[in-house]
Amino acid sequence: MRQLIAGNWKMHGLRAEAGHLCADIVKHIGDIDADLLVCPPATLLAHVAALIASSPVLLGGQDCHEVSHGAHTGDVSAPMLADAGARWVIIGHSERRQAYGETDARLRHKIAAAEHAQLTPILCVGENEEERLAGRHTQRIGHQLHHGLPDTLPTTGCVVAYEPIWAIGTGRIPSLDDIAAMHTFIRTTLTQRFGDVGKGVRILYGGSVKPDNAAEILAIPEVGGALVGGASLQAQSFLDIARAARPLPSTT
Ligand code: PGA
Repeated sequence: MRQLIAGNWKMHGLRAEAGHLCADIVKHIGDIDADLLVCPPATLLAHVAALIASSPVLLGGQDCHEVSHGAHTGDVSAPMLADAGARWVIIGHSERRQAYGETDARLRHKIAAAEHAQLTPILCVGENEEERLAGRHTQRIGHQLHHGLPDTLPTTGCVVAYEPIWAIGTGRIPSLDDIAAMHTFIRTTLTQRFGDVGKGVRILYGGSVKPDNAAEILAIPEVGGALVGGASLQAQSFLDIARAARPLPSTT
């Protein structure tokens, strides 16, 4: 299995920009030894799906509603993402947890909805700065995993992204030892609960991943890839991060 380098475009991108970005990514993917995933805004999914159609670049949404259709103005469901060409979906990004009060219980339903629509969910977990300073970060992540993940992992596969909230968009990252410790904790939690299936879950690190820190982060044994925000908006920086990826041992 290869590392997964996922670009979370957040609320950025118009058709023209997406065209340039995707053209550059598609052009260079041949020399990259990693799975590349782009998660554009919902409005661009179908457009990007067409742009990357003849390439191995993967496509995902940034969120989905937990029901398939209904009176939910402004929301997008998992089958709608799939219909637009997505096969992946980010669930529970801290920006959504904070801005929309998304609870772990709700995220569990979103993961089920993603599985039902044949999407692979990427569940984001992460502590805030206060929790980190108080030494409660491990407890916080354990709680989010326990309540956010369903009792059986999706048959469509599942990814966990560890994103300390205080590292997102700030240029600050935890020490490499702290990232390693958290990823080991997440792996242990997954294998204790899900057995061998938990060994196959890629655990991404996210939060201020840039070309100049990617190699050291991606070299940490339990790091299965990166979830990249700001640096995924430029092909050059996104590709440079991806070039730092390494093959994963067969069990992870
Ligand atoms: P960042 O965002 O790379 O800009 O810190 C990461 C994320 O929010 O997924």
